[in-house]
Amino acid sequence: MQKELEKIKKNFKTKVEKITNIQEFKTIEKDFLGKKGALKQILDLLKTLDKREKKRIGKMTNQLKKDIKIDLREVRKKITGHNLMEEANIDVTLPGKRLPQGHIHPLTQVLTNVERVFESMGFSVFLSPEVENEFYNFDALNVPADHPARDLWDTFWLKDNQKIEMGDEKTKNKKNNNQNIKPEKLLLRTHTTAMQLRYMKNHNAPFRIITPGKCYRYEASDSTHDIQFYQVDGLVVNKEVSIANFKAIIEELFKRIFSTSIKIRIRPGYFPFVEPGFEIDIACYQCQGENCPICKGTGWLEVMGAGMVHPEVFKNAGYNPLYWQGFAFGMGLDRLAMIKYGIADVRLFYQNDLRFLKQF
Ligand code: PHE
Repeated sequence: MQKELEKIKKNFKTKVEKITNIQEFKTIEKDFLGKKGALKQILDLLKTLDKREKKRIGKMTNQLKKDIKIDLREVRKKITGHNLMEEANIDVTLPGKRLPQGHIHPLTQVLTNVERVFESMGFSVFLSPEVENEFYNFDALNVPADHPARDLWDTFWLKDNQKIEMGDEKTKNKKNNNQNIKPEKLLLRTHTTAMQLRYMKNHNAPFRIITPGKCYRYEASDSTHDIQFYQVDGLVVNKEVSIANFKAIIEELFKRIFSTSIKIRIRPGYFPFVEPGFEIDIACYQCQGENCPICKGTGWLEVMGAGMVHPEVFKNAGYNPLYWQGFAFGMGLDRLAMIKYGIADVRLFYQNDLRFLKQF
């Protein structure tokens, strides 16, 4: 049997040298190491031998098997140019495959940032519906129907919305009890300011709140406007509240959002729900007034409308305007994100182009 093994070894040596391709390799591998290969036949015969011989021949056969394997591995490496481990993808030193990982949208990042800053100044976050009724979006805010100021907010009205129930329990019940009552007209809120009466009618002053959320306006979209955008509105009511308080709060906000002190400018502005009203600009920190597409070379960026709460709004909410004071503000979150990241076209935030989004 030893002779038999010698023969196999010799046979293998001659054959292995002639291997030129993977096909030949596989045949040889099968002939010598396969289930019905030469070595297996020897192993099968072992049981016919006596104990000592069995041990001796068994050892020799195993050694030969090892040698054949080593030789075959070398040959394979030569003909394929890889080593076996690599080919079978089990090279443990190779880096693992990364799973694609998403991340937070830049607008959400800025929003979270804004919320954190306000929360640290004692504000609560109050959410109010995107589908709003005419009353909260306009009338309650001192913008009656046919008032020209409504033109400031081009509105998406909902069609045949009468069946959708909105508003508080009282109005719902009234509707149910009396079919003749004119249903409220629904719209997509044009500003998050629509939260003011919703909050005030259910809460007592003093309070400080912000309301972030999507708003909609029926207007042509361009690089700085889209029909859907994000706003954050704020409302602070107390016995003594001043414009100086407001200024301190927004200076702190901008400082923390942009991680640097930012110059702000307060201009008079008109909004029916505040008196006096103003608009807030911040110095364009991208270009300092040189020339950039974001501020269009003016050096200032309009970021916010604000003012002292109008007595009519307090009256609508059932607050005594002689007793309570407050300031309100509303800012465009998209605008803030554009300024923070130096983005010239707001629509990029909504196109979901990963090449854009992956930068943040
Ligand atoms: N709602 C106003 C707008 O959409 C902003 C604003 C909010 C102004 C609160 C004054 C007070 O432009």
